[in-house]
Amino acid sequence: MIREMTNAESGRLKAVDMSRIVNVEDLRRAARRRLPRSVFDYIDGGADGEVTLRENVRAFQDVAFRPRCAVETPPPDLRTTVIGTPISMPVIFAPVGSSRMFWPRGEEAAAATAGAAGTIYSLSTLSGCRLEDVKKATSGPAWYQLYLCGGRDVASATLQRARDAGYSALILTIDTAVAGMRERDLRNGSKQLLTRKLGPMLPYVWQFAARPSWLAGFLRDGGLMKFPNVMLPDGPMLYADVSLALEQSTVTWRDLRWIREIWTGPVVIKGVHTAEDARRALDEGANAICVSNHGGRQLDGVHATIRVLPEIVDAVGGRVEVLLDGGVRRGGDVVKALCLGARAVLIGRAYAYGLAAAGGPGVARAVDILRSDIVRTLKLLGCASVRELNGSLVDAPRDWMPRSLTSA
Ligand code: GLV
Repeated sequence: MIREMTNAESGRLKAVDMSRIVNVEDLRRAARRRLPRSVFDYIDGGADGEVTLRENVRAFQDVAFRPRCAVETPPPDLRTTVIGTPISMPVIFAPVGSSRMFWPRGEEAAAATAGAAGTIYSLSTLSGCRLEDVKKATSGPAWYQLYLCGGRDVASATLQRARDAGYSALILTIDTAVAGMRERDLRNGSKQLLTRKLGPMLPYVWQFAARPSWLAGFLRDGGLMKFPNVMLPDGPMLYADVSLALEQSTVTWRDLRWIREIWTGPVVIKGVHTAEDARRALDEGANAICVSNHGGRQLDGVHATIRVLPEIVDAVGGRVEVLLDGGVRRGGDVVKALCLGARAVLIGRAYAYGLAAAGGPGVARAVDILRSDIVRTLKLLGCASVRELNGSLVDAPRDWMPRSLTSA
C-alpha cells in the first residue's frame, strides 16, 4: 500500500492513504477533512447560487463519445504544444489564488509538481509565495496571471519581475470587474477573519480549533496573509484588501495596449465567455484565448464553458489556440474539450483539492488520475494520439453548435 505523508517536515500529521484516492472527488473529500471550513469553501465554492459552478461540471455529461472500436491502440501520445511550448499532456495548471493557505508554501509545491509532470504552472497575482521562488521551484515552464491590483505602476513593476524570473507567457484575466459574491465566504466570516482582530474574529475561530494540523502548518509557514507580488508603496497587499483592490483596478481592453509595451511575450486572454469577446480579444492582439467563467466564481448564471466552447472555436477560426477551464474533474472531460476544439485545458480545483489534502503528493495524484484517464479514454476511442481528436468522436447538443455548422 502506498502511503504519502501529508507533511514531510513534521511527520506528526496523519497520512493520506493514496491507494484510496481513486478520483478527484476523493481528493476533494480529503481536502475537506484537513482544511478549516473557510479555506475549504474558498476552494470549493462559487458565486451566488453556484449555478454556473455546478453547470461547468454537469455540462460535460451532455457530450457523448462516438468511439472507433476494433482498431490497434498503441500507448497513446499525450504530448502537445501550447503557444509553442511543449507539454507532456494537454493539461495546464490554472492560476489559483491564495494556495499558500491550502498548504505551506503551496504555490511552490504545486509548481514543482507541475514541472515534474512536464506541464505549465500558472501563478496567480493573488499568491502567497514570491514569484521568483515559485519559478525556481519548477523545472517546467511557468505563466504569470495578472490582476491590476494597486494600479498600473505596481503591475508594471511585477511584470518586469515576472519577465526577469523567466515566466514565458502572461495570462490577463478579464472577468473580475468586481469580486464575485461568494455566499459561503460571508457565512464563514472570511471578512472578519481577515481583520485579524479578536472581537470580529471570535464567532468564527472555532473552525481552526477543529483543524489543528492545518493550523500548525499554517503557523509554521509564517501565518502570512499578504501578497508579495503586489508591492504597494507601504508593502505587500494584504488579503483583507483584495475585494476593494479588484474593484478599483478593472482590466479593460485599453490596458492591453500598455501591457503589450512592457510584456513582449505571448498574452493569453482568460475569461472569454462569448464569440463576441473572442473576436474582440483577437482584434486586440491576444495570442491565445482561455474560455473561462472563473470556475463559476464571478458572474453566476453564465453558460458552462464546455457549452460555449464550440461557438468560440468557430469565431476564432484557427487564428489562435483556444484553451478552456471550468468543471474539469476527469480525463474524459479533457478529451471532450479537445474533441470540441480546445488545444488544452486548465485545471484549478482538480489540483487544488490535492494540494490541500496532501501537498505535492496530492497534486501529483490529481495529475496521475487525469493522465491515466486520458490514456484509457484515447484507447477506448481508438485514438493513438491527442492530435487525432476531432469533432467526429463526440456528439454535443445541436444548439451548442455555431450557426455556421448547423445550417448545412
Ligand atoms: C480569485 O481569483 C478567486 O477566484 O478567488
